[in-house]
Amino acid sequence: MKPEVRIVEVGPRDGLQNEKGVVPTSLKADFIRALWGSGVGEVESTSFVSPKAVPQMADAAELILDLGERAAETMVLVPNQRGLDRALECGAKRIALFTAASDAFAEKNIGMTVEQSLAVFRELVAQFRARVPNGYVRGYVSTVVECPFTGWVMPEKVAKVVEAFSAMHVDDISLGETLGVAVPDEVAAVARAVERVAAVESITWHFHDTRGTALANVFAVLERGYRSFDSSAGGLGGCPFAPGAGGNVATEDLVYALERAGFRTGIDLTLLARASLPVLQAVGSPVRSRAQQASLASVCG
Ligand code: COA
Ligand code: ZN
Repeated sequence: MKPEVRIVEVGPRDGLQNEKGVVPTSLKADFIRALWGSGVGEVESTSFVSPKAVPQMADAAELILDLGERAAETMVLVPNQRGLDRALECGAKRIALFTAASDAFAEKNIGMTVEQSLAVFRELVAQFRARVPNGYVRGYVSTVVECPFTGWVMPEKVAKVVEAFSAMHVDDISLGETLGVAVPDEVAAVARAVERVAAVESITWHFHDTRGTALANVFAVLERGYRSFDSSAGGLGGCPFAPGAGGNVATEDLVYALERAGFRTGIDLTLLARASLPVLQAVGSPVRSRAQQASLASVCG
């Protein structure tokens, strides 16, 4: 039996939040349904953040409505009390809280220092657990290697935030290489620091592919036993609060490389390669993922 790798599709949220073109809500819902159809099991669908901060996610409640019953399977991003209230009103059962390993980035992104955000999250997790006993909570740590405002981040700083999330008993901690600058040795240094405070199984890696190093980083942590990754269909996105950051590692590139390397993802690459086409068209982008290009070419002729 091939070892299984978990893929969390973040394109509808992390991807679309940074695309300049506006994507209609119904197209987002179709995108998510197409992802499900390709075998993607876990999707982060939207975020309940301030529409002034991220106008692309202003339709969060409408999207959840459009997705119907299965909406509760998706994860939604929550920055503060108001976000949690909105998410709960929509029946959310899986939430993601987000902070960073850098104070400067956290302040720019969510208007709090890392410490302040963790104090708020302790309270939000308690409320969420009380309201949704079988719910799922993810903690995001952005800028685990480098911050766009203050530069290199000490791995120990990342480990401290991981420790804080672990103490809140979150279900999953996603480590974001937000800028897409890192190479395997740097990522391994972060992994070593994190392994001193948390189990490998509690961590997901979230690589952006700005400079084409994401897959190398994926394989560096696969070697260390990590089996959970975030990615974005079509390589959509970037980060509106990290100038110059490119999209997430493309789910197509990840699925191709993992399957070829003998892992099982449960995702059909041919169907996946088609899933993001209408969205790419809506935001005026060509196909960027090379595995997606190759898959489409082999199907079309
Ligand atoms: N959903 C909707 N509106 C919200 C909100 C939420 N979760 N949180 C705050 N607001 C509204 C307030 O009601 C207020 O509205 P008003 O100006 O009409 O009165 C306004 O936003 C400002 O509220 P305030 O509490 O002062 O927040 P802020 O301006 O300091 O912004 C955040 C803080 C966290 C809400 C905002 O920075 C944000 O949404 N960041 C998200 C960033 C993001 O999504 N990053 C992507 C992840 S990498
Ligand atoms: Zn990201």
